[in-house]
Amino acid sequence: MSFFPGRSRSDIQRPAVPHFPGAGVGGDGKGHPLDPDPGVITHRLTPGRGFVLACDSHGGDISLRENKNSSAAMVSDRRTAVITGGASGMGLAVAHALTRSGGWDVTIIDLDAAAGARAAETITDTATTQSSYTSSAMFQQADITEYAALAAAFEATFARTGRLDFVYANAGIAERGNFYGTHDTAGAAPPPPPDLLVSKINLDAVYTTTYLAQHYFRQTPQAALTQGPGSSSSTDQSIVMTASSGGIYPSGFCPLYTGAKHGVVGFMRAIAPSFYKNDKIRVNAVCPGPLRTGLLTKEAWDQFPQELLTDTDKVAAVVLMLIEGRDGAPISETRIDGDRGVDGGGTDQDALLWGNAVEISGQRHYYRDAPGYSDDIMERNMIQCDPTVGSLRT
Ligand SMILES: NC(=O)c1ccc[n+]([C@@H]2O[C@H](COP(=O)([O-])OP(=O)(O)OC[C@H]3O[C@@H](n4cnc5c(N)ncnc54)[C@H](O)[C@@H]3O)[C@@H](O)[C@H]2O)c1
Repeated sequence: MSFFPGRSRSDIQRPAVPHFPGAGVGGDGKGHPLDPDPGVITHRLTPGRGFVLACDSHGGDISLRENKNSSAAMVSDRRTAVITGGASGMGLAVAHALTRSGGWDVTIIDLDAAAGARAAETITDTATTQSSYTSSAMFQQADITEYAALAAAFEATFARTGRLDFVYANAGIAERGNFYGTHDTAGAAPPPPPDLLVSKINLDAVYTTTYLAQHYFRQTPQAALTQGPGSSSSTDQSIVMTASSGGIYPSGFCPLYTGAKHGVVGFMRAIAPSFYKNDKIRVNAVCPGPLRTGLLTKEAWDQFPQELLTDTDKVAAVVLMLIEGRDGAPISETRIDGDRGVDGGGTDQDALLWGNAVEISGQRHYYRDAPGYSDDIMERNMIQCDPTVGSLRT
């Protein structure tokens, strides 16, 4: 048994994708099988028959593809994204940015049913009016601390599009309660338990979201990844986690939030080499400074010096850059931990982005490395713990 279980992507049996041109397209000829009113197309296919429907972004060419790998009936030729906490704030901004860029089917997962439904509707409207490539959005209500609910949302997404390209593990809350508070209890009676919901949502659910992402990434037919009408040439799979500046710096006023966000950064750094080397999945985290979202009340936000707040659109731009995998900004502007590089050791600013904690402050972003080793004994020990190079595996 492997200490760090993982399989090489070359071990994965990905289905071939034969092309059967001329299957025809109904309606106005501009539809997509996943658009809100695609019934003519969708219902021609029998779920479970193992066929894949694809059309180009302008509705011109359409093809059926055999899908031997999954129970999903179709594989969309648009890319598929899952965004937790997509009904508000940064998640919503990224959902809008993706659909505006074109060629994405976005699933918003959120606890807030009203905001989620509103978001999906707005995004669909925006996508159809602003992009030359079509996009779509759907909402799945789920409490991401409930594994079954989260898994069902992923399952529904994969059943809808037959693929998964990007996951934004983003949902979060602010710290609740006062960890430093005193409690009047009698004698030896213990205080009430602390409120740990912030760890369950901001950290544990990042684990489960990533775990599910890994599964559905692997279920995605390899051939689907080499095509798509999106605006970019990048068609690989990636995860971005929302950590925080509190994942880099200690924030004493919210210690449990700080712990959870440090955990997100540590988790991202721990899995990124295996995910990339075994499955070509790029994993990164964003660490924004404070920005005005639904995370806090208006009164709380008003207490911040407004000129110091980070712009939500800047965060969305960084997330999209991480999805596309390359950063055109000069290294001199984005590196403050030396030149250990953005690609597991390289220094090329065009290197593929994975394993990065990207701090975002105001309108700037910076790549933050893990601390350097204290000495060679520690370095050699920690290398043993890296399953891509060490010996702690069988
Ligand atoms: N706003 C900031 O200053 C800031 C800074 C750095 C990092 N972050 C992080 O950004 C992420 C997004 O937060 P935001 O600032 O956009 O806030 P937000 O409140 O606007 O959005 C968070 C979304 O997550 C959803 N959510 C909360 N708990 C959930 C649950 N159990 N299941 C499903 N959905 C749930 C909420 O309903 C909401 O729609 C969070 O992880 C947050 O910690 C925020």
